[in-house]
Amino acid sequence: MNVLILGSGAREHAFAWKIAQSPMLTKLFIAPGNAGTALHGTNFDIDLNDFDAIGQLIKDQKIDLLLIGPENPLVQGLRDELQADTELTDLIIIGPDRAGAQLEGSKAYAKHFMTENRIPTADFYEITKQNIDQGFDALDQMKAPYVLKADGLAAGKGVIITEDLNEAKSILKNMLQGQFVDASQCVVIESFLEGIEFSVFALTDGINYLILPVAKDYKRIGEGDTGPNTGGMGAVSPVPFVDQKMMDKVTKRIIQPTLQGLKKRNIFYQGFIFFGLINCGGDPFVIEYNCRMGDPETQVVLPRIKNDFLDLLVHSAQQNLHTVSIDIDPRFLSNVVLASQGYPAAYTKNKIISLPTPPHLDTIIIHAGTKMDENQLRTQGGRVLSCCAFG
Ligand code: AMP
Ligand code: GLY
Repeated sequence: MNVLILGSGAREHAFAWKIAQSPMLTKLFIAPGNAGTALHGTNFDIDLNDFDAIGQLIKDQKIDLLLIGPENPLVQGLRDELQADTELTDLIIIGPDRAGAQLEGSKAYAKHFMTENRIPTADFYEITKQNIDQGFDALDQMKAPYVLKADGLAAGKGVIITEDLNEAKSILKNMLQGQFVDASQCVVIESFLEGIEFSVFALTDGINYLILPVAKDYKRIGEGDTGPNTGGMGAVSPVPFVDQKMMDKVTKRIIQPTLQGLKKRNIFYQGFIFFGLINCGGDPFVIEYNCRMGDPETQVVLPRIKNDFLDLLVHSAQQNLHTVSIDIDPRFLSNVVLASQGYPAAYTKNKIISLPTPPHLDTIIIHAGTKMDENQLRTQGGRVLSCCAFG
């Protein structure tokens, strides 16, 4: 098969690394990719908002399977667009359509979906300019900390948590006045959930599903989980506090009702569902849904899957995931991100990097913000590399 992966982060390098090991693979392409993905296939410099260019690349390179890494093209309806193209009827697409991606694309949509399907999550109010006074009243009645979320995609910056009531009110006002442009025309105010977070991933074919290894990411920049939030500075899998009893609750209370809820809404969801969960006193609650795999979690999830990953993806397209079982390496894997100095605030790019040969077969170096420039490896983003190791 010829496979195209869309995206340019460490998640996409991890996908490329894993899929390159499949005996079913003929050619691997990544768009736009990074210096790490180029070790496993051919990169194409493409704008992920340019759906026509993506469609053309798929035709030119005779792609059989498309794996969409990031949320933006999913929420914008890339799947819908490609499915409407009569020349691409045989293309396998991993990733939901626009309707399914709403689980991530709109926090208010996700909250209504969970309420409708009795899926445990924090209580909420949906506030727009029209009912802003109801938002102020709600905040008056709630206890600190206050959780405010821009409804739409805001590159991980749309959630603000504060202890201060007056600050919460001015955040609400600013968001509704367009702080996050279209993403904050609607704001979700939530009650604060106390607990420890973890990430569960399912691959679904629209009917059946496989639960992938459970992971936990660590979002703060500093040693000992301190300092500002980032896109994620590392991850571990498995997660010691998530035992079988917890996973049984997650399956019964969250994963199954989510899939049934999608069916009730006539949404055919094929791809990954990322359940951002929190363990509150032994019970799991949903903090958020994502319509894709997580970063940096993917870097510790994929190496623990012993199956041919491309084969799993093909089974999901054939709607026979129930005929395969997932074979998971029981060992612990951790991933530490190397970031450019200054990240998550301002940082410089273009620094020269030289990499050692990994000391051990069980150590994997995954690239995020890297590029090759005249045979020289250079930094290209804030999060530059991940080092993943079993042990
Ligand atoms: P989200 O983008 O919805 O995942 O929110 C980003 C982060 O904010 C989460 O990973 C949590 O750490 C935190 N958060 C979001 N909602 C809540 C909540 N209701 N209670 C406590 N923490 C939350
Ligand atoms: N690690 C969280 C995310 O990918 O959104």
